[in-house]
Amino acid sequence: SASESNSAMPHSGTMPHMSATTGRADEVVAGAIFRDGRLLLAQRIGPPELAGLWELPGGKAEPGESAEAALRRELREELGVEVAGAQRVGVGVPLDGGRVLRAYRVELLSGEPRPLEHAALCWVDADELEQIDLVPNDRLWLPELRAHLGR
Ligand code: CDP
Repeated sequence: SASESNSAMPHSGTMPHMSATTGRADEVVAGAIFRDGRLLLAQRIGPPELAGLWELPGGKAEPGESAEAALRRELREELGVEVAGAQRVGVGVPLDGGRVLRAYRVELLSGEPRPLEHAALCWVDADELEQIDLVPNDRLWLPELRAHLGR
């Protein structure tokens, strides 16, 4: 599609949320951190329709920023940890405004996650992942997240 084109980039100067360097829609990145057979989830504070629901922590990539760099920055800001790597997990989710939300498995290098911008954090196993109230977008990743947890 035109929005994924890498050659001409005809719209990158005029379309919101298009990268001038890659011609691709700008991303919202979400990080899946696994440890001891559990997945880290973060509970949203807002907006009201999402408050109390659980998500993979992350946020908007800056223009020209790689997914891995965006994950390193966002998870440092939100959790106070250092992560590396960025292995795609599940489908890309088109968001209102033209961005695309993508999940990535990242490896925890250092730090103990703290809820610096969330209401709480929790580590869920495969059974708990089925029960917890995820934000609607993140529910689309349940099959792959389950598989990473060995189900
Ligand atoms: O922190 P920042 O403002 O960069 O991003 P955000 O507000 O956390 O996320 C940007 C958009 O992606 C919002 O619409 C979130 O609801 C959505 N999002 C999501 O659906 N699932 C996630 N795991 C992370 C973000």
